Amino acid sequence: MQPLSFPELQAKMRAFQESRILLTAVELDLFTAVGSGATAEEVARSLGTHPRATETLMNALAAIGALVKSGGKFFNTPATERYLAAGGAEFARPAMMHTVYMFDSWATLTECVRKGTAVRQPVVEAQDPQRTESFIAAMHWRAQNDAAELARTAGAQDVRRMLDVGGGSGVYSIAFAKANPELRAEVFDLEPVIRIAERHIRAEGLQGRIVTRAGDLTRDKFGSGYDLILLSAICHMLGPEENLGLFRRCFRALAPGGRLLIRDFILEPDRISPPHAALFAVNMLIGTRSGSTYTEEDYASWLKEAGFAAVRREGAELISGTKAAR
Ligand SMILES: C[S@@+](CC[C@H](N)C(=O)[O-])C[C@H]1O[C@@H](n2cnc3c(N)ncnc32)[C@H](O)[C@@H]1O
Repeated sequence: MQPLSFPELQAKMRAFQESRILLTAVELDLFTAVGSGATAEEVARSLGTHPRATETLMNALAAIGALVKSGGKFFNTPATERYLAAGGAEFARPAMMHTVYMFDSWATLTECVRKGTAVRQPVVEAQDPQRTESFIAAMHWRAQNDAAELARTAGAQDVRRMLDVGGGSGVYSIAFAKANPELRAEVFDLEPVIRIAERHIRAEGLQGRIVTRAGDLTRDKFGSGYDLILLSAICHMLGPEENLGLFRRCFRALAPGGRLLIRDFILEPDRISPPHAALFAVNMLIGTRSGSTYTEEDYASWLKEAGFAAVRREGAELISGTKAAR
């Protein structure tokens, strides 16, 4: 990474302004209120917001290219119409609300750095149904394409019993079950999230082959006889000792020859690249007690200590450990 000049540093310091404008528009559901075109006054009336303030916000949104202003009216752009206005072909506001909540958490970073851990309750423990819904919607949104691709590359066709630990919406189990009609999956997650997963599983008509189990992945036993256990976006929530303990319990739950597949951001040994993985470590500092992002070497050492015989880097964000066949 090239060192930044002072003007570049200043631009980065101010970058939150554009971010905040967009997040407030998402929070207010302003793009839905704009619909097929509206004045600021009409939008303020429909949102119950202040007319002058709404116009100020909408002018700024138009200034950054998130609305189009013409003849005193505001219009959605192709992107806001498709993703951020209700009825859009790929309406993503529920998922984007997760970023709205993140903005507040990120404001606690200075305090987190002083204390060494999250100072707000992690989202999964906050027992706030709206935050949980948006968190899982964001995970589901991110994984939709990735899940089908993973099912193809990870060899779903050879799997009969799969355990999806911290499976969230069940998006990966659904993709694996679709890729192999013989595959049965179990989504393991916290109780409130299991209810969301069941909705998605039913919507896909897969309730006959995907079951759910409520539990705590930081301490519960997982059972036995699985040929694949998936940990997708789980390890970054946990500290090194917790990951080692989790891998040990996964090892016990796998059948001989079974595989633990870890999908996560993986840092280079310098821990500053890829940059998104280094930034995500900050997100985990803010959002969890001891989570972070880890290197391939970290994963390999925990996997070997947990008993896995063959450890393989399978992709930019994929590592697997295989339990020796008897
Ligand atoms: C980042 S999401 C990943 C979801 C899914 N695996 C994916 O990749 O889309 C982390 C998941 O772990 C679950 N989780 C967090 N703490 C947990 C715990 N102690 N026990 C069980 N599940 C937990 C969350 O509810 C959430 O569904």
